[in-house]
Formats: sequence, structure tokens, C-alpha cells
Amino acid sequence: MRTPLNAILGFSEVMKGEMFGPHSSPQYAEYAGDIHSSGQHLLSLINEILDLSRIEAGRYDLNEEALTLAYVVEDCHHLLKVRAKNKGVAIIERFEADMPKLWADERSIRQIVLNLMSNAIKFTPIGGEITLKVGWTASGGQYIAVKDTGAGIPEDEIPIVLSNFGQGSNAIKNAEQGTGLGLPIVQGLVSMHGGTFTLKSTVRIGTEVTVTFPAERVMEALPAIASPPVAARIDIPMAEEPLPAAMVQNVGALRRALFGPRR
Ligand SMILES: Nc1ncnc2c1ncn2[C@@H]1O[C@H](COP(=O)(O)OP(=O)(O)OP(=O)(O)O)[C@@H](O)[C@H]1O
Ligand SMILES: [Mg+2]
Repeated sequence: MRTPLNAILGFSEVMKGEMFGPHSSPQYAEYAGDIHSSGQHLLSLINEILDLSRIEAGRYDLNEEALTLAYVVEDCHHLLKVRAKNKGVAIIERFEADMPKLWADERSIRQIVLNLMSNAIKFTPIGGEITLKVGWTASGGQYIAVKDTGAGIPEDEIPIVLSNFGQGSNAIKNAEQGTGLGLPIVQGLVSMHGGTFTLKSTVRIGTEVTVTFPAERVMEALPAIASPPVAARIDIPMAEEPLPAAMVQNVGALRRALFGPRR
């Protein structure tokens, strides 16, 4: 499915950029641009549907490794910075310091954060604020939260927005592009990690989604710095008296005097 779409994307980009010479009519370049952006929209739709089908069929492979949640969230922040800025929405980071690594699939974490952040940007009006949090849970796990000061979701719509293809009245009203698969994908990926998903929302106040990862996934912190084994230590005889200031200043000359010229 993705191969023909990649051809559409690639060739329309070539045509849009008039790489082999200008079009006889400028409208062709405009149409090529439309083909390209529609193709991109279709590709993200196909990717969402494929991901959800894989999750539901139990065929989504987790590629687990030790990762730092804050770094992944920071990366996603970087990716969506311009989109938020263009909408006049500020993004704030609140990360607890010195968190140990988490055993998780980076691609999933990225997708979770990107989906939550793009919702927050989409449904927060100009002048709004998004807060990204990373921290400890009460039971020794780690959490990520995305909070916004946006439109919010009416209570009776929450079961709808959590279901496949479900969209709230705010999405339909604003005619925003979307499929209603973002939150189901997030819930699927979180449950594959043995975590929890919580959505709290108040209309006109905002929304906060928190996902947690269990304590079993938190890697043990390594001891600060291991001291070198005694045998590997080199004994440096201490000078009886402090070296004269002039000698200390001229470290280069001292080194040459002691070890010979540099090769
Ligand atoms: N941060 C939010 N603030 C207000 N409403 C939200 C927020 N996040 C989600 N919603 C509501 O939940 C619905 C479902 O969200 P979901 O991410 O699943 O789908 P989508 O964003 O509409 O489309 P897609 O993510 O597939 O592009 C949205 O259409 C919207 O009504
Ligand atoms: Mg979404």
C-alpha cells in the first residue's frame, strides 16, 4: 500500500518543484502541490490504520531498549515546536531530574507523545499553553503527561473519543482534519507496555492525559562512578614543596623538560 503512495509523493514533489523544467501553465505546479499534500495526508491515515490493526491483531512488535523518557519527549517537543508556534500556543517542559532509564519501545513512546501533543495543539486556541511532564508515579513507575488549556471534552463524549474513529463535537465543529484513531492507538501502545492511560478533561478549562509505565520497567540506577581498580592506579610522587609559580605557568616547558619534545 505504501509503495504506490511513495511513487505518488516522490513524483508529485518533482513536478511541484519543476525539477526538469518549468510547466507551460503555473496551474500544473499548483495541482502537483495538491497531489503531494493529499498524498501525505493519505499516508498518515494508512499508517494509523495499519498501526491500530497491528496492535489489535497482536502483531505490533515492541523493540524494547533502555531509554530516557525525558529525551524522547523533548525530541517530540522539538518536532512540533513550529506547529505550536504557528498556532500561538506555548509549550512548557516540567521534567523531574535524574530519572533512571525505562525499558520501553522508543517508536511507541514517540507515537504516544506525538499523538497527545498534536491533539493538544489542535484543540487549544491562540494564547493557550501546553505542559509536558515526566516524573515518578506513586508506585515507583514513571509517567508522561500532556496538559493543555484548550477546548476540553464534555463528559458524555469521553467514551466516544476513546473509541476507534470516535471524534468529539469540538473536532467536527472546527472541521479539523483527523480520523479519530490517535487516542485508541495511544491506549493500545500503553497497554502493550503494561501501563495505564488516564484522561481528565473540563470543557473550556482544558485536558490532561497521563500515561504511566510500571515500576518493573524502570532500570536500576547505576552506582555514580566506579573507582578504578587499585592495580591500575599510577602513583605520582608528591612534591615536597609547591612548585614555583613560574614553573606552573609554563606547563608546556615543564612537560617538554620531563617527557621530551612532542612527536
Ligand atoms: N487535547 C484535547 N482537547 C480537546 N479535545 C480532544 C483532545 N484530545 C482529543 N480530543 C477529542 O478526542 C477526539 C479523538 O481524538 P483522537 O486523537 O483519537 O482523534 P483525532 O485527533 O480527531 O484524529 P487523529 O488523531 O486520528 O488524527 C478528538 O476528535 C477530539 O474531539
Ligand atoms: Mg489525534
